[in-house]
Amino acid sequence: MGNRETEKALHYHEATKHSYWSIRTSVHYLDWDNQPLPFKIYRDLEPLALPSEFPETGVATLDAVVGAPDVSGTRVPDLNVLAHILYYSAGITKTKRYPGGEIHFRAAACAGALYPIEVYVVCGDLPGLKAGVYHFSPRDFALRRLRAGDYRGVLARATAREPAICRAPVILVQTAISWRSSWKYRDRAYRYHFWDDGMILANALAAATAHRMPAKVVMGFVDDEVNHLLGVDGEREMALTLFPLGRASVAPPPPDEVPDLRLETVPLSRSEVDYPLIREMHAASTLSSVQEVEHWREAPFETRDAPCGNNIFPLRPLAEDEWPRESLESVIRRRGSTRRFARKAIRWEELSTILDGATRGFPADFLKASGDHLNDLYLNVHAVEGMPAGAYFYCWRERALKLLREGDVRQSSQYLCLEQALGGDSSVTIFYLADLSSILGRYGNRGYRAAQLEAGIIGGKLYLGAYALGRGATGLTFYDDDVTEFFSPHAEGKSAIFVTALGVPGKRPYL
Ligand SMILES: Cc1cc2nc3c(=O)[nH]c(=O)nc-3n(C[C@H](O)[C@H](O)[C@H](O)COP(=O)(O)O)c2cc1C
Repeated sequence: MGNRETEKALHYHEATKHSYWSIRTSVHYLDWDNQPLPFKIYRDLEPLALPSEFPETGVATLDAVVGAPDVSGTRVPDLNVLAHILYYSAGITKTKRYPGGEIHFRAAACAGALYPIEVYVVCGDLPGLKAGVYHFSPRDFALRRLRAGDYRGVLARATAREPAICRAPVILVQTAISWRSSWKYRDRAYRYHFWDDGMILANALAAATAHRMPAKVVMGFVDDEVNHLLGVDGEREMALTLFPLGRASVAPPPPDEVPDLRLETVPLSRSEVDYPLIREMHAASTLSSVQEVEHWREAPFETRDAPCGNNIFPLRPLAEDEWPRESLESVIRRRGSTRRFARKAIRWEELSTILDGATRGFPADFLKASGDHLNDLYLNVHAVEGMPAGAYFYCWRERALKLLREGDVRQSSQYLCLEQALGGDSSVTIFYLADLSSILGRYGNRGYRAAQLEAGIIGGKLYLGAYALGRGATGLTFYDDDVTEFFSPHAEGKSAIFVTALGVPGKRPYL
């Protein structure tokens, strides 16, 4: 079975590493005349406008980020709740015009503002929306119906009857249109798909919590069945995650026939470049049968964290009554990645609150308990009041930072983040590293997808926490092996997965 041939994921990871030399010897340039459209446009489907005047929850951001969605009782989202969650996870929150075009920025951060993630809705009858399979279009804030009728049973079958899927009145499905980000990031784009998806899911989890809607991230499914349901080919566009939402009183009906969909869409650009490594990595991490899905789920990854030892700084989060009350909606609307940090300090209580909120876990079919995690966090502290500058390791279970090496590490951080000033000017830069061999050992190649996605979700939560406290954040890319080397011997054998920088926003640079 392809998924167990884990040298494939290791090969993909190795082949898509950035290094000082790979950046300097790259001949890639951006072909602006061939830039892909950031929207999927169906030629012949009528829009079904989503309500734009949906009520807001007013729930404070940190409450939404750290809370776990309520899981008891029946909870059926109506069209307003669905519109709210779609808007605050994948909607357009601002549009910036510049000579030659405009960029529609979204609720969640996205590498290069390329927006490869599409969202679909698979539902039974909801108040205000008939059962069907719909595509969500952020461009005109509308749904388009791809299939009429209740197809949730297809997802129940494809996930080997995953309990949250079987009881969900609605399931959101996230896909990636690969060319949108491979246009810029080439073969490495496959990693970005999961980071970008994770950013959206972090917002969706928070919005679901604000509505007290149970929600879960599901990565174990028979790929072909889900792709077929959405009418996507699994190569140029592929399903990444399922996000069951709410809890119905009865399970969906058994699946019917699922005829082929032949729906025409507007071409993304003049021509598309094929990136075989992405296709191969995706195919190698495919689950082809219900048995494979059952195996994926039967023993979720259990983290075995070593005791933290000495040189420990226990987190000191703000008491809940000190949390800012600004609503999730307001924070997401004004969120935007920090383009310059002021090199100023944040308080230890602020970093503690952000870190604590981002690492309380989330319901997922690849994590057993809320303390489990695939990624380890290493922090370069540049300017945090009450903390010596230096390199730290986050002890997840003890909820403490362990000082690995004291000293000014700004310059190293900048270098590690592909020499970007943002990496060194922040108050703290957080590096995610994962022990890929044990993750792949448990999950096969699909564990690679999960490790990248988890990093995106944690990153999205860090963004929300930072903005809730009036601070700034940005995702960053990195020199893979240099990151591991920098944090070694502690990080020996681990692979660099993602980076997020947090700090005090400075004056925006002129671009
Ligand atoms: C996964 C990810 C990686 C990113 N990498 C970088 C980066 O290397 N350098 C950078 O300046 N910004 C980076 N960003 C920030 C994006 O450029 C930014 O999110 C995008 O332009 C959209 O803008 P917004 O976040 O303000 O809505 C990254 C964002 C994400 C989500």
